Amino acid sequence: MLKICVVGTGYVGLVTGTCLAEMGHDVLCVDTHAEKIARLSKGDIPIYEPGLDAIVADNVAAGRLAFSTDITSVLAWETLVLFFAIGTPTAADGPHADVGPLRNAVLQAARARAERGYGGFIVFVIKSTVPVGTCARLDAEVARWLPRESYAIVSNPEFLREGCAIEDFLAPDRIVLGSSSPHGLALMRRVYAPLTTRGYRLLAFDTVETSEMIKYASNVFLATKIGLVNEFALLCEKVGADVTDLAQGIGLDRRIGPAGLKAGPGFGGSCFPKDLRALVRIAEEAGGAMPIAEAVIASNERQKRAMVARVVERLGGDVRDLRIGVLGLSFKAGTDDVREAPAVTLIDELIKAGARVVAFDPVAMQAFGRIVPDIELAATAEDVFADAAAVVIVTEWPEFAALPFAELSSAMARPLVIDLRNHLDPAPLAALGYEYLGLGHAASRADLLVEVEMELDGRPERKAAIAAE
Ligand SMILES: NC(=O)c1ccc[n+]([C@@H]2O[C@H](COP(=O)([O-])OP(=O)(O)OC[C@H]3O[C@@H](n4cnc5c(N)ncnc54)[C@H](O)[C@@H]3O)[C@@H](O)[C@H]2O)c1
Repeated sequence: MLKICVVGTGYVGLVTGTCLAEMGHDVLCVDTHAEKIARLSKGDIPIYEPGLDAIVADNVAAGRLAFSTDITSVLAWETLVLFFAIGTPTAADGPHADVGPLRNAVLQAARARAERGYGGFIVFVIKSTVPVGTCARLDAEVARWLPRESYAIVSNPEFLREGCAIEDFLAPDRIVLGSSSPHGLALMRRVYAPLTTRGYRLLAFDTVETSEMIKYASNVFLATKIGLVNEFALLCEKVGADVTDLAQGIGLDRRIGPAGLKAGPGFGGSCFPKDLRALVRIAEEAGGAMPIAEAVIASNERQKRAMVARVVERLGGDVRDLRIGVLGLSFKAGTDDVREAPAVTLIDELIKAGARVVAFDPVAMQAFGRIVPDIELAATAEDVFADAAAVVIVTEWPEFAALPFAELSSAMARPLVIDLRNHLDPAPLAALGYEYLGLGHAASRADLLVEVEMELDGRPERKAAIAAE
């Protein structure tokens, strides 16, 4: 087993470090965020990721996992495998990814090792998502500090999904490596041996560029799938088709596959939006073009705005002074990550339009409150129903489906549920007298609903039941 240091202990770094320890390695996780490390050192996990707390505790207790703000102690290791999982967000001045903090951390480690005169071999493993060419540039820069034969730069992009990150790391669809250093790749095969001996696929390329590009290509494919199904959801409503059935119909085609075909309010999170933007820039800089990625970015923005319009229109075109309940703030269920979450656009716009928004999320409220300070946060999911003109489901947390809807409708100003995830079963809600507006079903058509209302002359139970059929 190897001694490994992971630099950057966020969503990816903490999962990576913990899972490498679980695989039997000795791991030190380092972060410059002192409060984060202080919390981790006390067994308090700063992010929400299902199952992570138990596996951290197990590995700390087994003496395989530790946390520090200081990288110095690892620099003397004879064989040093240094994973970098530092954030690469969109830069403040443009659509490209900001690799500055990552670059600084890599060069600081190289320089410190050189200045201390330590021998041995060091592998700089770039786990962060970085523009194609970054690893090659880092290689050239590290060469100013360390002899070529004493280090390797390895690209090892991460494909985990927040919410099931541990499973994704320990049972990956594939592990991707890229390096011009055979010794570096050989060491990385040892790192991942506990997984490859159990049959998990490892692809090792002798160029960093291929590995770097695979990460962006994966994300643009996945984002395109979601973008397309979201567009189909809106089209289905117009032509009388049903997007859930459509997803099943196309997903059974093995060339398409069933995953990632759920319609929703637009994708968010810390990866797809910023990686697509970065990819478009990478293509421009290389003299190429990525018109599909550009279209997916635009389509996703359109989807997020369409969700705002959907809520406003359903509430008669004017939401001033209306109280609107929102269930779910994280960009998807299973995480507290609110970066570029569709809830941000929705709530921002509703507040701008004069609505009083009250929201609940089981784990993401603190993080969300930092981004949208004007939001009123409810103590419980039930509380968002009080006096609400509508409750909007934005994130598909399973517990929302188990709410006591029978008791909650009477608390609302109008028993209207707008479900942007098709998360709830419409029929029981309709039976309880709710108006239900899902996404991508013929019954979600605003004009159809109006017709039904007129025909039935204001009998709400029956109205909603028909709308949901
Ligand atoms: N979050 C995901 O689901 C996911 C999935 C795959 C890939 N990625 C990629 O992984 C990378 C990390 O993403 P994340 O979501 O974990 O980011 P994050 O913001 O959650 O974590 C980054 C961490 O790096 C720390 N850091 C910054 N500078 C540092 C330094 N010099 N030394 C030590 N620590 C430092 C920060 O304090 C922070 O804790 C990004 O490139 C991202 O695109 C993310």
